[in-house]
Amino acid sequence: MRRFLVVLAAAAATALAALSVAHAHAASDPYSGGDAASGAKLIQSSGCEGCHGAGFTGGLGPKLIGIEKRLTPAQIAAKIKSPAPPMPNFGFTDKQVADLVAYLSGLDGGTGKPVVKIVPPQPSGEAMVLVTFTGTPPGDAQVQASMKMGTMQHGTGWTPLQKTADPHTLAAKVFFAMAGEWTVQVRYGSGQEIDVPLNVDG
Ligand code: HEC
Repeated sequence: MRRFLVVLAAAAATALAALSVAHAHAASDPYSGGDAASGAKLIQSSGCEGCHGAGFTGGLGPKLIGIEKRLTPAQIAAKIKSPAPPMPNFGFTDKQVADLVAYLSGLDGGTGKPVVKIVPPQPSGEAMVLVTFTGTPPGDAQVQASMKMGTMQHGTGWTPLQKTADPHTLAAKVFFAMAGEWTVQVRYGSGQEIDVPLNVDG
């Protein structure tokens, strides 16, 4: 139990570190932190959807749902401030552009980290790994269980995560050949990884 708590504390510290990194990144981008509600009003009065399709699903202009996964806030802002024809230049202020970026970046749930859940939480031979994304799950997400043996990290091999009844959640089963301290690794998108330490009972 004590060991389990230590692992939990380590996980919390890692999560905090990740949070502060994300915060530092946001602060350095002048077009992050806009007001999505103001952006929504601006979008209604500017007729963006006339070109980009109802709900920004794509039309004459490209689909903008999920744009926050392809471009940084500054890059999205540049596309609005210096648009490629036939997209018109609306002459928005920097504040208005930040608001538009905030609205567009939330259309697909934003870039929050997916949440990994392991069922049962203290497994023995196998477990189901459920990964819930803030928006549409990527098509290339995969999972493996690995264990440290000496200096080597020994993995069971990557398994694709499959769709579930919940449109935001992917899942796959992982197998543990023995008891001990394992790591459940989830990879998705271009090289992003979440590692969850896990105590497997004998
Ligand atoms: C007259 C049609 C039209 C209107 C109106 C319009 N757009 Fe566009 N938009 C386009 C086209 C076409 C492109 C693709 C330009 C290119 O070739 O890169 C584009 C590109 C973009 C991009 C970059 C997309 C990407 O994937 O690179 C963003 C962001 C964008 N528009 C936002 C908006 C917003 C916000 C509004 C309203 C304030 C708006 N657009 C209004 C036609 C339009």
